[in-house]
Amino acid sequence: MDNNSENSSTNHSNNIVWHESRVSPEFRQEVFGQQGSTLWFTGLSGSGKSTLAFTLEHMLVQEKFKSYVLDGDNIRHGLNNNLGFSDADREENIRRVGEVSKLFADAGLIVLSSFISPFKKGRQLVRKIHEDAGLNFLEIFIDTPLAVCEERDPKQLYAKARRGEIPHFTGISSPYEEPDDAEIIIPVSNSPEKSSQQVLEYLKQHKIIKS
Ligand code: ADX
Repeated sequence: MDNNSENSSTNHSNNIVWHESRVSPEFRQEVFGQQGSTLWFTGLSGSGKSTLAFTLEHMLVQEKFKSYVLDGDNIRHGLNNNLGFSDADREENIRRVGEVSKLFADAGLIVLSSFISPFKKGRQLVRKIHEDAGLNFLEIFIDTPLAVCEERDPKQLYAKARRGEIPHFTGISSPYEEPDDAEIIIPVSNSPEKSSQQVLEYLKQHKIIKS
């Protein structure tokens, strides 16, 4: 694994040296019984990303797998509380959480990263960050149409955005670029439990977790 590889962010630090862990990825995998991986959930606000991610996290931990959700709303309460929703801020949001996801995956966790991540470029960057580090990266597209998300409107944000009270709102006044290379697509008709089961099966089939 080449953790020291250059990624697309500019490095502003000089005179820094990469320290190699004494724990190989193979040994970590053997001890943990799972391959550290990032599952990247993308879709509109209200599409069901977080519900699915938290349902799946619960199922995985119940089966004794080590998993953790990184959720857009939650991360914006802390690590990324200095970022808004301009294109540039979203790009930085996704870059940072992509790097954090990579670290968690490298630590051996099944990371469930749930972010609108509306731009293909940002999602491609986080995929590359993982692939360059030899880590599994799966993109999961929650394919819930805008009309359904708006009808649900659990946080009443679409209503506010329609009234012009939220600028750059994804789907209304800011674009969402649908993925065309997602490993898994979740149709709107699926329940969170059925979708979680589908993803769990995928992880077992691909030997990311033990059957
Ligand atoms: S992302 O576009 O940068 O990936 P992220 O997933 O972190 O977004 O945060 C999305 C959440 O922020 C939404 O679920 C919603 O609750 C809230 N939010 C607040 N303002 C906006 C906005 N302008 N566009 C989209 N979501 C917003």
